[in-house]
Amino acid sequence: MSHSIAVIPGDGIGNEVMPEGLRALEAAARRFGIDLNYTHFDFACCDYYLAHGRMLPEDWFDRLKGFDAIFFGAVGDPARVPDHISLWGSLLQFRRAFDQYINLRPCKLLPGIRSPLAGRDPGDMDFYVVRENTEGEYSSIGGRMFEGTEREVVIQETVMTRIGIDRVLRYAFELANRRPRRKLTSATKSNGISITMPYWDERVKAMAGHYPEVTVDQYHIDILTANFVLHPDWFDVVVASNLFGDILSDLGPACAGTIGVAPSANINPDGTYPSLFEPVHGSAPDIAGRGIANPIGQIWSAAMMLEHLGHQAAAQAIVTAFEAVLTEGDPRVLTPDIGGQGNTRTLGEAIAARIEG
Ligand code: NAD
Ligand code: IPM
Ligand code: MN
Repeated sequence: MSHSIAVIPGDGIGNEVMPEGLRALEAAARRFGIDLNYTHFDFACCDYYLAHGRMLPEDWFDRLKGFDAIFFGAVGDPARVPDHISLWGSLLQFRRAFDQYINLRPCKLLPGIRSPLAGRDPGDMDFYVVRENTEGEYSSIGGRMFEGTEREVVIQETVMTRIGIDRVLRYAFELANRRPRRKLTSATKSNGISITMPYWDERVKAMAGHYPEVTVDQYHIDILTANFVLHPDWFDVVVASNLFGDILSDLGPACAGTIGVAPSANINPDGTYPSLFEPVHGSAPDIAGRGIANPIGQIWSAAMMLEHLGHQAAAQAIVTAFEAVLTEGDPRVLTPDIGGQGNTRTLGEAIAARIEG
């Protein structure tokens, strides 16, 4: 069976990790006889926006909606284009227009990677952040009044809907129910944010009634961030609003050693539109151009994409391959963020060679 993939490397290190993501995909496709057809798009700040004054062409929705999946790098070039313009002009549009309401972000302490947390070994951290991905704090409702005066006011509303909350909770409960520990943690801030967050808690209680075998914990986001650091072994499936999920999905991977390995799947579970697979990290302007970015976030995202497309064994082969390379721990191969002296390509090539077997 053949799958059509839209490839959007984006900006900065997106362009450096994408070739390694594709190398891993191709290696898996060869080994498992999967036919992947790629179409490349140059949507990014760096050159597309500067040439066209917009991040995407007017017909982007029609051009992308028919693909089986979107494989995305990272967008952002804050020195040239303000971040809210580039991100609201691309990635955040994809998530909304393609109704990718689940942002699934695994967080795992991998073999061979040292956690900055004392005494933590692989096995101590292996959980998912399930992030609401289309509403919540990321809303375009609001405005700026009395601009330029002393009475200037800015307002940005948080929007939570019953349908929006229930569908992400259902996904998270289903995921927790399939995992051995059957534990779900919900992140809110119901003591301070007194309307939306207690409503989220109410919906968690209601949903929990349908999943009697899942143990449910609820924390305010402030102490939850502390517990990520102090007790990362407590967590199994963590479900959170758009903003809280964003924060937790950088914190978790940082506790697991580096955000460079963290993948994500922006999923439209109904299958009406393509889902989008991308590393959690951004375009990393501070290291872009040096070829030293860790490609595992992109490569692991490729595995999530293959799994989504129904190729479980190929996905597992990719994960097994990068875990083997990390276990081996050859410093000439590993990138600097995980203690090596290698680069994006040495690590990507070593993983691809393992995938081929
Ligand atoms: P970032 O994730 O790009 O970088 C944060 C830090 O992590 C930097 O020090 C960077 O060098 C390091 N880092 C990131 N990825 C790495 C990798 N693969 N290997 C090794 N080190 C890595 O976050 P930022 O600096 O806040 O954002 C930079 C730009 O990226 C901004 O324009 C931002 O809006 C954008 N951004 C885009 C996405 C996306 O497209 N999904 C996600 C986050 C940030
Ligand atoms: C992420 C990123 C994006 C987000 C930014 C770049 C808008 O941080 O995918 O985690 O906040 O969702
Ligand atoms: Mn983020």
